[in-house]
Amino acid sequence: MNFHLTEEQMAVKEAARDFAKAELLPGVIDRDTHATFPKEQIQLMGQLGFLGMMVDPKYNGGGMDTISYVLAMEEISKIDASASVAMSVNNSLVCWGLEKYGSEAQKEKYLKPLAAGEVLGAFCLSEPEAGSDATSQRTIAEDKGDYYLINGTKNWITNGSTASVYLVIAQTAPEKKHKGISTFIVERDMVGFEVGKKEDKLGIRGSDTHSLMFNDVKVPKENRIGEDGFGFSFAMQTLDGGRIGIAAQALGIASGAYELALAYSKERKTFGKPISQHQAIQFKLADMETEIEAARLLVMKAAWLKDQGKDYGHASAMAKLYASKVAMEVTVEAVQIHGGYGFVKEYHVERLMRDAKITQIYEGTSEIQKIVISRNILR
Ligand code: CAA
Ligand code: FAD
Repeated sequence: MNFHLTEEQMAVKEAARDFAKAELLPGVIDRDTHATFPKEQIQLMGQLGFLGMMVDPKYNGGGMDTISYVLAMEEISKIDASASVAMSVNNSLVCWGLEKYGSEAQKEKYLKPLAAGEVLGAFCLSEPEAGSDATSQRTIAEDKGDYYLINGTKNWITNGSTASVYLVIAQTAPEKKHKGISTFIVERDMVGFEVGKKEDKLGIRGSDTHSLMFNDVKVPKENRIGEDGFGFSFAMQTLDGGRIGIAAQALGIASGAYELALAYSKERKTFGKPISQHQAIQFKLADMETEIEAARLLVMKAAWLKDQGKDYGHASAMAKLYASKVAMEVTVEAVQIHGGYGFVKEYHVERLMRDAKITQIYEGTSEIQKIVISRNILR
């Protein structure tokens, strides 16, 4: 067992931290208030290599390991979880699947600009009637010979209005249920594709979450990823890795809130001494640090398993389940340590508390992670 980071991994962590402090911190409250997507900051992240971190350099990626990715996700999430979800989707839900299962032509045309951060991607699985119950896809892709005709609605799609490339999961043979699901690459300007309503959210308000409509969208056959019927397995495998990214996001939200609470506890005085000298506050800090460290170990283990080429679906579900719970608990305590000041925007912790909640919902709710974990235990 080795708990040391390499020099390269430490450099990535530092670069992400410096970037987040310099580029994301200014304006983060304003973007949250007005639900503004961090467009320029995401462009910069692309130029710095944060959007295709694990992709092979021959496809414009950074060629880094999952540990480095997780370290960068944590640092960016400490400051701006809206930026980190765009990063997580592009890296692990879009680039990963294209690199692993895309054809050479798909990699040339779509993966290269995505990994270079020139364009953003979106992953479209959820529908109004198919969230946790992801096999209940209603979006239909009808085989018309040399193209598919896609009709249906997706909702809750991250990067919904800002993406150029959409990986769309749809039914090609409804009678085959999950074995009749495929994945298609849809371009933003394809005729019949429409970006719908923007969601007004509790947290990650800077992230653009939209419904998407597909009305007779003609998608060339060469835009199907893998064989017909491979789409559900593709989505599940993609989410196994995606959940490591969201677990790292939760870890970052928790550690960001903890760092703010720790600093504040040393400054704020009551009854003649800093509140950090009251044992009630000390015990909160002790619990917060312990929980964060436990979450970090689960997140790192899942990332390490992936880097070693071992099975990581079980570990990634545990990491997401636990880190998201810690994010929720730690951010609530961080607000408490700030007292009334924690309840206002200026001190950042109320935003982190609101942002934490989504980590228990997307990429599979906590209940779904428990289903994945318990099925693995009992298999
Ligand atoms: N890898 C490969 N195949 C898998 C798999 C995995 N991890 N998990 C399941 N499968 C396969 C199964 O082997 C099975 O195939 P066979 O019949 O050929 O054996 C098939 O998929 C169906 O599996 P289940 O019977 O287990 O399916 P289920 O209906 O019980 O559902 C589930 C399983 C785990 C609950 C799944 O539906 C699920 O993960 N739901 C949550 C959906 C989700 O996470 N959505 C996230 C959307 S993206 C997002 O949220 C992004 C964002 O916010 C930023
Ligand atoms: P439901 O599935 O209706 O669940 C409702 C409740 O019932 C939950 O508590 C759930 O845990 C529980 N439940 C459901 N089934 C069971 C069961 N069998 N056992 C126990 N409890 C159960 N999706 C994408 O495809 N791409 C994206 O980019 C994306 N981004 C998102 C961004 C945001 C901000 C949000 C809010 C969602 C996003 N999603 C995305 C969708 C997200 O993955 C789903 O919201 C999530 O999977 C839950 O689905 P649902 O909302 O339909 O809830």
